[in-house]
Amino acid sequence: MEIIRKPKRMTAWVNSQAALGKTICLVPTMGYLHDGHLALVRKGCEWADHVVVSLFVNPIQFGPGEDLDSYPRSFERDAALSEKVGASVLFSPEAIDLYPKGFQTTVTVKGLTSGLCGGSRPHHFDGVTTVVAKLFHIVKPHSAVFGQKDLQQLAVIKKMVSDLNWDIDILGHPIVREADGLAMSSRNSYLNEEERLKALCLHDAIQFARKKVRAGSQNAASLEEDIECRIRGCNGVVIDYVSIVNAETLQKCSVINNDSVLALAVKIGRTRLIDNGFLKAEA
Ligand code: PAJ
Repeated sequence: MEIIRKPKRMTAWVNSQAALGKTICLVPTMGYLHDGHLALVRKGCEWADHVVVSLFVNPIQFGPGEDLDSYPRSFERDAALSEKVGASVLFSPEAIDLYPKGFQTTVTVKGLTSGLCGGSRPHHFDGVTTVVAKLFHIVKPHSAVFGQKDLQQLAVIKKMVSDLNWDIDILGHPIVREADGLAMSSRNSYLNEEERLKALCLHDAIQFARKKVRAGSQNAASLEEDIECRIRGCNGVVIDYVSIVNAETLQKCSVINNDSVLALAVKIGRTRLIDNGFLKAEA
């Protein structure tokens, strides 16, 4: 596996592979890789001749007072893991090369970014779409894999690609969980033992909601209330949102159907965690 830092060198590598007729899949990450990330890389390997994993803690998707400085980093370990699961390149640019002095351009998806995480993190998705657009131009992938854990991010990236007529297949990958149900996340490393236990309230809420739906609940608003009530019972968990939405449009559902997803965001201590699950899926 090659480690590439400079965007120009990355594009030169890609061009040399394209000349050989090779296909490329990109897996964008902010590093501190866990099995969720690695599952995306494995999926990419099934889809393309080469997987490029990008590792870049993107400063412009963090708001003031968020965890940019404390975001966990482990370059050597990430490189070893990426290589082990079959990546051809680890692309890890410096911030100065992606956002040189005088940088003025951003990519914005309106609408889809206004609710859910966009509500409490106002400029977050502009940061995500801008960096992903840049990575797409540098790496020129045929496909890219994103996790369904970041439900809104996946919907926003798909929208950007279709609105801008980019010929890139956006592949979603199901949420990878710990044995006890907690969705894997680099931010789980912030949790102490007690907070780690409280974090299980997210997966518990999804299981609870699915059970209610199986038992006949159809009204999304009243189910949201029941879920909020259950989460509030967990001391020290502060709800950001509990929302039942259509998986693609992210519009609120009134009646629960096959496309309804329960999307959740909470804060436990200083750690913000998100999770989601289709309500009609098997628990
Ligand atoms: P990061 O949080 O590192 O996540 C990288 C990719 O891994 C995203 O597509 C995310 O949805 C996926 N992922 C994370 N945890 C997962 C899990 N438990 N199961 C399945 N997939 C999971 O998301 C970002 O970075 C950034 O916003 C990025 C897209 C790289 C832009 O900076």
